[in-house]
Amino acid sequence: MFKLVIDPQKELGHINPELQGHFSEHLGRCIYGGVYVGENSDIPNTNGMRNDVVSALKELKLPVLRWPGGCFADEYHWKDGIGEKSKRKKMINTNWGGVVEDNSFGTHEYMELCRQLGCKTYINGNVGSGTVQEMSEWVEYMTFDGVSPMAELRKENGHEEPWRVDFFGIGNENWGCGGNMLPEYYADQFRQYQSYVKNYAPDKKISKIACGPNAQDYEWMETVLRQCHKLSGSWNGAHGFIDGISLHYYTLPYDWAKKGAATGFNEIEWYMTLSKTLFMEELVTKHSAIIDRYDPDHKIGLIVDEWGTWYDVEEGTNPGFLYQQNTMRDALVAAINLNIFNKHCDRVKMANIAQLVNVLQAVILTEGEKIVKTPTYHVFNMYKHHQDGTLIGSFVDTKTIGLQEEYQVPNLHESCSKDKDGKYHITLANLSVEESYEICTDILGNEIASAKAEILTGKMDDKNTFEAPDVVKTLSFDTLSVNGDKITFTIPANSVIHIEVELK
Ligand code: AHR
Repeated sequence: MFKLVIDPQKELGHINPELQGHFSEHLGRCIYGGVYVGENSDIPNTNGMRNDVVSALKELKLPVLRWPGGCFADEYHWKDGIGEKSKRKKMINTNWGGVVEDNSFGTHEYMELCRQLGCKTYINGNVGSGTVQEMSEWVEYMTFDGVSPMAELRKENGHEEPWRVDFFGIGNENWGCGGNMLPEYYADQFRQYQSYVKNYAPDKKISKIACGPNAQDYEWMETVLRQCHKLSGSWNGAHGFIDGISLHYYTLPYDWAKKGAATGFNEIEWYMTLSKTLFMEELVTKHSAIIDRYDPDHKIGLIVDEWGTWYDVEEGTNPGFLYQQNTMRDALVAAINLNIFNKHCDRVKMANIAQLVNVLQAVILTEGEKIVKTPTYHVFNMYKHHQDGTLIGSFVDTKTIGLQEEYQVPNLHESCSKDKDGKYHITLANLSVEESYEICTDILGNEIASAKAEILTGKMDDKNTFEAPDVVKTLSFDTLSVNGDKITFTIPANSVIHIEVELK
């Protein structure tokens, strides 16, 4: 019997809805075909956005969408993506398959997508190949409500009112595809570029996100913060203009040369993948410790704006399109990461899975007019109850499992929150591929009024396909036994459970 202890007295922080954010790039079929098909498509759409995809994403309460990249962001010139579509410049998408980008999805279309989704906006600006003026004018175009060259241009293009930009990224992966910069150089670039990302509407502040490190590059984090955490001449206090700093970490079963297959993997690869996912805990802890030294008041958010699995592409697909299937293993990866972000909500203020549709660990796959919700989708659907909740102290007894010394994992992984209506939400994952476990949940000293649960489970490489879209789906889990302040149940191998508890 494994004990899961929930301590309602321990209210540990606010879980920003944005911890369940998403990322969409001009990459493969994420934007084109995935979310955007154009007004004239036979696929049912509203202003060019697929109705089926938008409605599925709305169900997740998708809180924020990052766009337009990724590596694409640092070669994107926003003026190419506005105005009459037939006249928009075509460009080469050099990072992703060398295909022609016709710019038919640009700023107006992105804002329309976010309007339909009802989500916050997170635009990633171009530092690598752009200019300060270009970035500054983009912000003016989107957010200035008055008379100015860019505001006039926006109006000419059919949008009278300014939009709201909630988050603005100053470059992406500038240590790599975004310009191969050294941290000292990027820090200087950040200081300069961000000076011209103006807050034209003081009540609608744009949060500025600096480009943070790749995985365990602690030196990058240290250097950028040292040089940028205080900016002289800042008008808004000790923290200058850095509201967040990003972290990118992908789960690859093997390495960049041979990533591993999305399906048809074995148990060794199962545990390798989960063990590498759990490295996120160490990354977040160590990067947070660095940020703590510069920002003890926790004003700077750690923004994990790219995370998820990265496998070898599906056979017969364009290697530059990063199209991969999604199995129960991905469901476990999502559950672990989302639990980690919850537990670190004092510092992690946003996280964006890569990527929204048809790319990497997508929540949705499309093929023509068909759509499939992946196992990862169902995890987000169960975890949405944590959004905007209060993190509650929780702990689970675990034992170590795995097939190889270096890839051992705990058998169980959890987090717990309390929502605005006072209901508790426990999410628990069983990482074992073969063992089920008896769990006794103890809600310390509190009588339980009711408890209900839902479960996602299956064989380790179960997946949803266009032919069989519902192999992996959430089912109600009604074998909970409630007694006083305890709930007992058996969690099957390879599963994710969400329990909703009401106290007396
Ligand atoms: O998500 C795919 C790519 O991964 C992004 O474009 C880049 O930022 C990262 O290397």
